[in-house]
Amino acid sequence: MSARFKGLLVVNAFLNSGKFEILYERLGKNASDKDMELRLMTNADLVPEDKVAQAAREYDFCIFWDKDVRLCRRLEKANLRTFNNSRAIAVCDNKADTYEVLSGAGIPQPLTVPLPFTYDNLGYEDVAFFDDIAGVLGYPMVIKECRGSFGAQVYLAKDPAGACELLREHGSRELLAQRFIGEAAGRDLRLNMVGDECVAAMLRVNEKDFRANISNGGRGTAYEPSDAEVALARSCMHTLGLDFAGVDILESAEGPLVCEVNSNPQFVSTYECTGVDLGEAVMDYIYRELIS
Ligand SMILES: Nc1ncnc2c1ncn2[C@@H]1O[C@H](COP(=O)(O)OP(=O)(O)O)[C@@H](O)[C@H]1O
Ligand SMILES: [Mg+2]
Repeated sequence: MSARFKGLLVVNAFLNSGKFEILYERLGKNASDKDMELRLMTNADLVPEDKVAQAAREYDFCIFWDKDVRLCRRLEKANLRTFNNSRAIAVCDNKADTYEVLSGAGIPQPLTVPLPFTYDNLGYEDVAFFDDIAGVLGYPMVIKECRGSFGAQVYLAKDPAGACELLREHGSRELLAQRFIGEAAGRDLRLNMVGDECVAAMLRVNEKDFRANISNGGRGTAYEPSDAEVALARSCMHTLGLDFAGVDILESAEGPLVCEVNSNPQFVSTYECTGVDLGEAVMDYIYRELIS
C-alpha cells in the first residue's frame, strides 16, 4: 500500500557534508511512521522547468532544506506546498533583513545597524561613516556578515582600530554592526520551534569565546524556557511566517532579545543534547497541516 502523502526533501547539491544522509534517513523514518514517504533531491536536480513542474505534480509537499530561494519560489508557483516557505527562508537567510522584519513587529533584539551598501569589488576603503555608528553602539561591538552560520562570520570589534580592520577585511560581504550584549557573552538559548510549540530548547555556553554555537566550542544542555522566552520565539514564527525554526535568544539585563532565527536548524545536535527528535515533531506538524 502506498503512503498517504508523498513529500520531497530538497537539499543543496554543493554542500555535501554527509549530514544530509543522516537527516534524510531520520526524516524518512519519521515520515513513514506517519503514513508519509519522503524522497531526497538536490537543487541541482531541479533546474529545468519541466523537472519543477513534474515534482509539483508528483509530490504533496516539500521540505525545503536549502537557501536556494529562487527554486523554492518556483516550486511554490507550481503549487507545491513548501515547509518552510520561500519568503521565510529568504528573510532568515539575511540577518539584516531578519532584523528589519522583526523590528517592524516590535520584537526586541540587540540594537543593530545594517552597514551602507557597497560593491563586492570595492568594500569599504573610506570608513569615516562608521564613527556615527560607533557613537550609537559603543565598544566592544559585534560585527556580523549578514549571511553566515555556526558563529563563523560573527566578529567582535574591541575598539575603532579593530572595527576598521574588520570592515576592510570583510567589506566585500554585506555586514551589520550590533550592540554587544556583554552580560550574555558566551551564552545563548536555542528554542526549537515547530508551529507554535517549543519542542526542545538548549542553553549553550562557551567558556572560551563570546559565540555560544556548539560548532564553535559551546556546550549545550537541555533547557526549560520561560513563558516569556517561548512567547518571544512564537512571535518570531508568526512574524516571519515560519513552520519550524531554531530561534536564538540572548538573555540581556533588560530581558530576552532575539539574536537570530534559523530556518533550517540542526536536528542532530538537538537530539544529542535533549533526546528530542525534532524530525518527529516536524513530520507530525506537516501531516496535520496537510489534512486540515
Ligand atoms: N549582539 C551580541 N551580543 C553578544 N553575543 C552575541 C551577539 N550576537 C551574537 N552573539 C553570539 O554569537 C553567536 C553567533 O551569532 P549568530 O548571530 O547567532 O550567528 P550564527 O548564524 O553564526 O549562529 C550567538 O549564538 C551568540 O552566542
Ligand atoms: Mg546562531
